[in-house]
Amino acid sequence: MYTEPTTFSAEQYFATQLPPPALQHDVESVREFVARQQKEGRAVVLVTSGGTTVPLELNVVRFLDNFSAGTRGATSAEYFLKAGYAVIFMHRQFSLQPFSRHYSHSTNPFLDFLDIDSPESQGATPRISVTPNKREDLLQVLTVYKEVHARGTLHTLTFVTVNDYLWLLRAVSQEMSVLKRRAMFYLAAAVSDFFLPRQKMASYLVSSFASEHKIQSGKGSLHIEMDQVPKILKPLVDEWTPGGFIVSFKLETDQNLLLPKARQAIERYGHQVVIGNELHRRKFEVVFVSKKPLPALPPGIEQTDEAILQAVDPTNSFSEYWLRIDVPEHPAPGFLVKEIEEDIVDELVKRHAEWIANTP
Ligand code: PMT
Repeated sequence: MYTEPTTFSAEQYFATQLPPPALQHDVESVREFVARQQKEGRAVVLVTSGGTTVPLELNVVRFLDNFSAGTRGATSAEYFLKAGYAVIFMHRQFSLQPFSRHYSHSTNPFLDFLDIDSPESQGATPRISVTPNKREDLLQVLTVYKEVHARGTLHTLTFVTVNDYLWLLRAVSQEMSVLKRRAMFYLAAAVSDFFLPRQKMASYLVSSFASEHKIQSGKGSLHIEMDQVPKILKPLVDEWTPGGFIVSFKLETDQNLLLPKARQAIERYGHQVVIGNELHRRKFEVVFVSKKPLPALPPGIEQTDEAILQAVDPTNSFSEYWLRIDVPEHPAPGFLVKEIEEDIVDELVKRHAEWIANTP
């Protein structure tokens, strides 16, 4: 008999919700990828990207979604590859992907890049060529894309629902734990905080006279009560992949909440970096929040908790580092001087290397 927890712990969540059907296959592919990268001496970063859905029906017609085009994740993945990392790119199905993101069907449709050359002789097949003013950009993207494929340093996984995401994140991070400090986690996906447990979904559907079928209208308003998704950063840090370098993102719509919320996350989960971003400024401004390294204690004093507590000023124990790109006051739509992800990844690669060097 299913008894409904008030709030799910990660353990309760995985004991009561079903894994996605492709999980085992995905895990084996990740195991093989990680083993090869480890043999070839590369650090590996897991980049999560895009929004998760929350289905409202077992046979899904309606679902709630989390906002994210996947730009942050797809762009960052390219810069990590450029920096020599192998990348596991875990993204929402149909969201932006590294390299192909440059030719998104809505902003830069690839058919607009092509010309049809009329054949010289009658009856010959027409040839397709790349529009001359698009060639240089395309050649650059295509060259790197082909190099990455030849090296085999990009592995792609997809999720749709928050349930797929949670199962995959746990399994992939457990596979990456063999890399110890050479594993980085870059959690840029927009993860739903609420979900509908499958057990509740069934009864909720029954009360809507719909059994496993789509919810019927005509009964007035629809009330949905959702449960809270367990906070998975805690088990990720403490159990699934101890030793990894973990970077999470904090999205806020109120700029004033960025720092307090990012500090709270660092304090609560004890990971390495929170990158705060405000929804409308996220392409131009982010803030890195971390715990300051412990102060050097005077000679003769051991690194006991008490000695450290006395030496640390609790009101000043976080470091904040703003990354900004200058933009005109009223930028034209689509205006972009450079991609802020280039600077984000540069900074993280530097911090990861220092952290590897300084962590016993
Ligand atoms: O893709 P784009 O359009 O470019 O947008 C990028 C982005 C704005 C989505 C991205 O930069 C971003 O901020 N992603 C994180 C959004 C988010 O889920 O924020 P949050 O405050 O809900 O979660 C904060 C952290 O807690 C996340 O790292 C998340 O992995 C983690 N989390 C979330 C839910 C949950 N149940 N457990 C968690 O541990």
